[in-house]
Amino acid sequence: MSDRYLVIVNGSPRKQGNCAVLVERAAVGAQAGGAQVEIFRLADLNIHPCDACDSCQETGICVLQDDMQALYGPLRRADAILIASPIYWFSVSAQTKLFIDRCYALQGTAGNALDGKRFGVMLTYGDVDPYTSGAINAIRMFQDMLRYLEAELVGLVYGSANDPGAIRSRPEVLREAYELGQRLAS
Ligand SMILES: Cc1cc2nc3c(=O)[nH]c(=O)nc-3n(C[C@H](O)[C@H](O)[C@H](O)COP(=O)(O)O)c2cc1C
Repeated sequence: MSDRYLVIVNGSPRKQGNCAVLVERAAVGAQAGGAQVEIFRLADLNIHPCDACDSCQETGICVLQDDMQALYGPLRRADAILIASPIYWFSVSAQTKLFIDRCYALQGTAGNALDGKRFGVMLTYGDVDPYTSGAINAIRMFQDMLRYLEAELVGLVYGSANDPGAIRSRPEVLREAYELGQRLAS
């Protein structure tokens, strides 16, 4: 039984979408591994863009009073963080990017709260492969981001599916999502 706490962030606006299916599989895998799992759907939250005031770089506290404030505590407490996003215009969704930009407040002179945390990433896209879909751009962005944060990229799951829930017909991708959840719980 693990006592790990996994935060899952879903950057898709589709409630029954492909990211939601993968998130559910990963959550089941993590719970089977004994982790406590909390899921945040970014489309349900009111998260403003970073306005670059830079005060967080001194204080570690973001001055923007919106729903991102409810995420900072769980992100600080999390042992592992799993980010799921659809590919929109050859990168992550706008909801996902706003969330990532606001994670700026978690690092700075007050310390890097994400340092040493374990991350997973899951991406879905309509095109047939990770290169022409643009998933490769998102993968590169996460690799650079996590290297910068000195956080570990435990695993990447990505697959092609366009219609909402169509990823259910890709059992190998569902299995990878489950296994990534399990690994993040360990
Ligand atoms: C605004 C928008 C932009 C998209 N851009 C791309 C893209 O650049 N490349 C791609 O392969 N699929 C693209 N798609 C398709 C989605 O990535 C695909 O349907 C994905 O599985 C959606 O995941 P979801 O069901 O979790 O929302 C786009 C879809 C939308 C709505």
